[in-house]
Amino acid sequence: MEKFRFLTSGESHGKCLTAIIEGVPSGLEIDIDFINSELHRRQQGYGRGDRMKLESDTVEITSGVRFGKTIGSPITLSVKNRDFENWQKVMSVSPSDQTDDKAFSVYRPGHADYAGSIKYNQQDLRNILERSSARKTAIEVAVGAVAKLILKQIGITGSSEVTQIGAACCPDKFHQEIDLTREKGDSIGGKFVVIYKNIPVGLGSHVHWDRGIDGRLAQAVMSIPAIKAVEIGDNPLGFCGSEYHDEFEIKDGEICRTSNHAGGIEGGMTNGQDLVISAVMKPIPTMMKSLESIDLKTNQKAQAHYERSDVCAVESCAVVAEARVAWVIANEILLKYGSDSIEELKSRVL
Ligand SMILES: Cc1cc2nc3c(=O)[nH]c(=O)nc-3n(C[C@H](O)[C@H](O)[C@H](O)COP(=O)(O)O)c2cc1C
Repeated sequence: MEKFRFLTSGESHGKCLTAIIEGVPSGLEIDIDFINSELHRRQQGYGRGDRMKLESDTVEITSGVRFGKTIGSPITLSVKNRDFENWQKVMSVSPSDQTDDKAFSVYRPGHADYAGSIKYNQQDLRNILERSSARKTAIEVAVGAVAKLILKQIGITGSSEVTQIGAACCPDKFHQEIDLTREKGDSIGGKFVVIYKNIPVGLGSHVHWDRGIDGRLAQAVMSIPAIKAVEIGDNPLGFCGSEYHDEFEIKDGEICRTSNHAGGIEGGMTNGQDLVISAVMKPIPTMMKSLESIDLKTNQKAQAHYERSDVCAVESCAVVAEARVAWVIANEILLKYGSDSIEELKSRVL
């Protein structure tokens, strides 16, 4: 069941990235500066590559908004790829521009190249790279910003924090860890946490497997490129039951809990505590120190293709995860309380 629905399109070096969102209530003020500031946050972070210096993402809205407010119709967002001017011929839609410039045929380990080229019967691995690249997360962050604007109307706010880079668990050591990795021509991953506050009780459901909000959140975060593990609340390994489960108490006449190990979800439903989701990002697969691979044209050993790349993108990835969590919460809010106008939604929630 989806109320907040969208599709995105666009290649990494194509003209632009686009999203069409459906289900946003009418009357929602669209703060473009806020959307752009979220796009900016995604581009920051220690360890990003040179491309981030080239791109300064901004959103353009071409439907669904009039005089600053949504009107209930589908919203179209687009983000230009500023590097496109250097790639116009290579990414042309016209058959007359056919070129082998920027084509490559050596599979990059850790990327979609090998499986994607077999699945889509492609000999030029650029045809797989262009859409599997994490560049598409820019438009996802713009969609997430719209979801955040809905949530803000009912007092729900989110944030994220990097909790580990490689083996370092203390923020003071993060930059050093990334610098050492860069010097070695290598790459590094890490872990982050996303927290959303002021969540109503009862988003999601226990009645069917596919309605649990924990499952929906896990899918949304796990499918971010390079995410390899998702946890809701505290990892329960090493706790015994009496330590892990969050006991009830009454404080100032209200039912509350003595802890939040469950991360705000029990039985597939939000329980009113903060939503806490952590995720682990693998080391970036494209490295200066390139990996052993095979050239699909010759079936011979070759060094993996290198293209301008991040050394570490955990901070940006956390911003992408914030956006994805915002979609899931916004969808559940609209399912539970209705989605026609923002005034109606507010009167039902608050
Ligand atoms: C924000 C962000 C930035 C990324 N930057 C790069 C990059 O510069 N180079 C790279 O090889 N992979 C990068 N990745 C990771 C790859 O996109 C990802 O590992 C690859 O598409 C394979 O998908 P999988 O790891 O989910 O299997 C990035 C991921 C995210 C979320």
